[in-house]
Amino acid sequence: METGPHSMVCQLEIPMLPGKTPRGDSESLESTLLLEAFQSFTQASSSLESAFQRLQERTRRLSHELAAKNRELKRSLREKEQVQNYLARILESLPCGVLVMEADGRVSVCNPVGGRILGVASASRSKKRLARLKAAVDRYLAAYSARETGNGEAEIPLEAGGKTRILAAASIPLKSSSGFGTGTLHIMRDVTEIKALEAQNKRGERLAAMGEMAVELAHEIRNPLGSIELFASLLEKELPRSSDPGRWAENIRIGSRSLNNIVSNMLHFANPLEPQFEDVDLHVLIREILGFAEPILQQREVRVSTRFEARTGMVSGDRELIKQMILNLVLNSLQAMPSRGSLMVGTRDNVALRRRGSGEGVELTVRDSGLGIAPENLARIFDPFFTTNKNGTGLGLSVVHQIVEQHAGTIRVESAVNIGTTFTIVLQGVRPVSAAAR
Ligand SMILES: Nc1ncnc2c1ncn2[C@@H]1O[C@H](COP(=O)(O)OP(=O)(O)OP(=O)(O)O)[C@@H](O)[C@H]1O
Ligand SMILES: [Mg+2]
Repeated sequence: METGPHSMVCQLEIPMLPGKTPRGDSESLESTLLLEAFQSFTQASSSLESAFQRLQERTRRLSHELAAKNRELKRSLREKEQVQNYLARILESLPCGVLVMEADGRVSVCNPVGGRILGVASASRSKKRLARLKAAVDRYLAAYSARETGNGEAEIPLEAGGKTRILAAASIPLKSSSGFGTGTLHIMRDVTEIKALEAQNKRGERLAAMGEMAVELAHEIRNPLGSIELFASLLEKELPRSSDPGRWAENIRIGSRSLNNIVSNMLHFANPLEPQFEDVDLHVLIREILGFAEPILQQREVRVSTRFEARTGMVSGDRELIKQMILNLVLNSLQAMPSRGSLMVGTRDNVALRRRGSGEGVELTVRDSGLGIAPENLARIFDPFFTTNKNGTGLGLSVVHQIVEQHAGTIRVESAVNIGTTFTIVLQGVRPVSAAAR
């Protein structure tokens, strides 16, 4: 038998005494009794041993059960912690503010966005921060209850961090499983930017409506302007050029043409038309425009020259748009030369385009010896409404740029203050018939 350190079991071997002893029967009785006593002791100890084994077995079972329960408890604690972390992460990454007010007025949850919206962004749980949070929540609740419409939703202006923000807020009563109110859940969204965009959109719509009206007006103006220009040129032909009435008629024609150009720029800017491509002779258009500007050029004593070096000057483009483009450049040069100067308009074949194999390009150059463009303005001259002229709209060059883009061309400007300005535009030339057919 195994005996452990705490074992209470022992066994004794009692030898049977042989024969009679000198003291006779009484001795034999004693030994019998002793034998019986030992036997009953042995019996008791063996039943004690089995009871002890049962106890050991039960203890082992109980400690197994305890260990299993402990493991289960630890697992459920871990799961609870995971769920808590998961919920905390959801709360942290929600794009709206979440605030939970307990029934006793305590704030039990305020996620980071909520803190930011209320102007208490830090996550610290310091007394100072908690006091600030409490004050901000009180302000929010006062503003909320003043605006709440009954369905739990409200749009409220809230002063936070020195700025007034617009919040879209909703509140939902929280109930325990037995149906008792335990607090309120507040969900807040910062809609300041959305509101600003909405206002901007409304302003944009008003401006667009005004723009449409302006375009209609421009169309209305253009027709009588065309008539004025036509009648003035008829008058000009009837009157001697050297006479005052002749010069007045000339001025009326030039003035109405300039006005027409402004109106055309406006119309093009508001609603750029798709170019109607055809073969256009740049040389013809340049002569036409210089002819129109000739009286002003003479008045201002501006020497005009043309340098047509391109083989043909034929480009593929929209006649009216290209005319508008050149007229804008020439008028700008005129405005840059209030008195005296020189204006050169020229063309030449563009080798770079030819090398790229996309057909021959034609380069158009408008060069003046005017005031020039200040370096700090150079980057802005193509911006709509940028002007340094008292009566300018600042649309001329922006329209020129748009027209160049519509023709897949390029535009370059070089300028030096008090020396002059050169605009160079490259347009797609017309392919010779033989090349196009190939
Ligand atoms: N040839 C030039 N010489 C000097 N400055 C120029 C020249 N061309 C353009 N600019 C500068 O670029 C600005 C913008 O030109 P743009 O044609 O867009 O408008 P604008 O001429 O001022 O007005 P609008 O074309 O409506 O009469 C001008 O105000 C001027 O400052
Ligand atoms: Mg202009």
